[in-house]
Amino acid sequence: MLNFTFKNRTEILFGEGQIQEVASRLPENARVLFLYGGGSIKKNGIFDDVSAVLQSATVTEFAGVEPNPEYETLMQAVQVSRDNQVNFILAVGGGSVIDGAKFIAAAVNFDGNPWDILVSGAEFSETLPIGAVLTLPATGSESNGNSVVNRRETAQKRAFGSDSVQPMFAVLDPTYTFSLPPRQVSNGVIDAFVHVIEQYLTYPVNAPLQDRFAEGILHTLLTEGPKALSTPQDYDVRANVMWSATMALNGLIGKGVPQDWATHMIGHELTALYNLDHAQTLAIVLPSLMFVQREQKKTKILQLGERVFGITGEDEGRCLDLTIKAVQDFFEAMQVQTRLADYQIEKRSIDDIVANLEKNGMTALGEHGDIDLAKARQILNLAA
Ligand code: NZQ
Ligand code: ZN
Repeated sequence: MLNFTFKNRTEILFGEGQIQEVASRLPENARVLFLYGGGSIKKNGIFDDVSAVLQSATVTEFAGVEPNPEYETLMQAVQVSRDNQVNFILAVGGGSVIDGAKFIAAAVNFDGNPWDILVSGAEFSETLPIGAVLTLPATGSESNGNSVVNRRETAQKRAFGSDSVQPMFAVLDPTYTFSLPPRQVSNGVIDAFVHVIEQYLTYPVNAPLQDRFAEGILHTLLTEGPKALSTPQDYDVRANVMWSATMALNGLIGKGVPQDWATHMIGHELTALYNLDHAQTLAIVLPSLMFVQREQKKTKILQLGERVFGITGEDEGRCLDLTIKAVQDFFEAMQVQTRLADYQIEKRSIDDIVANLEKNGMTALGEHGDIDLAKARQILNLAA
C-alpha cells in the first residue's frame, strides 16, 4: 500500500428532513449567498425548504449556474458576493452548483485574476465557508475539495482542488432526487461508477480493503442504478445511489492506491468542445481506454470481471474482452450511449480533441503516465 494522509471535514447530514439541521450550522450573523442552478429547485419544493431554514440569515440569491458551470457566470457571483459582504455560501444543486460555489469561495478575496486559480494553480487564501444541499448524486463534490469550471470563450474546462473549499456540511436527502429527469439519474450513476473505476482499475498494490470498498460501490451502482430508472420513487434505491456516489469520491477509496484520471481528462475536452454531459464523455472514453490499456491493467480488469460481473474462465483474453463489454453494456443499459458517433462527433474531430489535450498539458495521463497524445488518439479512434 502507498503512504497517505486522510482527512474529510464534511459533516454528512443524511436522510429525509435533514435540511432542518442547516439553520444551526450557519455562522453567527450569517450573510448567505444562496446559490443555485437553472430553477429545478423552484419546481420540486427544495427552494421553499431552503428558504425556510435561512429565515434568520441575511440572504442574497444567485441563480443561473449552468451545468458545467461557466466562468463568466461565476465571476458575476463573485462580484455579487463582494457587493453584499457575504460570509457563507449555501450551494443547492448538483456538482455544477457546488463546484461553482468552491470557485466563488476561492475567488472572492483573491488578489489577482481568478482565472489563474484554474490554469496556473495560483494560491489563494481567506476562502468563504460553504454548505451544500445535494440534489443530484453523481460527482461527490458535496464532500470533496475539487471544482471543475468551464470557459466557453477559450473552449477550456479546468479544475482546481483545495481542502479549504470543501463544504463544511452536506445535506443528502434522497427525496430531493425524486424529481431528477432520467437522463440525470443515468449521468449520476455513470459518473460515480467511473470515479470508482479510476481509483481501482490500475495495478495491484496489495490493498485488499480499498479493493473491496471499490467493488462494493461498483456492485451497488450496478444493481441499484437500473432500479433508480425503473422505480424512480423508491426511497431506498435513491438512498443507496446517493450514498454510493458520495463514497465514490470523498477521498477514502483512493487512499494508498494508484489512480488513473485519464478518462476524466479526455472527457473534459469533449465537454469543452462539444458541450456533452460530463457522464456522456466518460461513457465514450472508458471502454476504449480499458481496451487500449488492457495489458497494463490486466490483473485489475480480470479482478473486476470476476468480483463485480461474475466473469470467470481459463481464457484471459476472453475474460478481458467480456469485462470491457460488460462495462460498456452497463452504460448502454443506463441509456447513455458510448460512441462519439452517437453524439454526431465525427472522426475528423479527433484532431481538435487531441490538440486541446496538448494545449491543456494533458500529455502523460494514466497511472503510469503512458497515455500520451498518440495513445489518446488511439482511444478516441476506437470510440469513434
Ligand atoms: O440547474 P438546475 O435547475 O439545478 O438543473 C440541473 C441541471 O440541469 C438538474 N438537476 C439537478 N438536481 C435536480 C435536477 N433536476 C431536477 N431535479 C433535481 N433534483 O440536473 C442538471 C445537471 O446538473 P449538474 O449539477 O450539471 O450535474 P452533475 O451533478 O452531474 O455535475 C456535473 C459537473 O460536475 C463536474 C463535472 O465536470 C460537471 O461540470 N465534476 C465535479 C467533480 C468534483 N467536484 O469532484 C468530479 C466529477 O468528475 C465532475 O468532473
Ligand atoms: Zn466525474
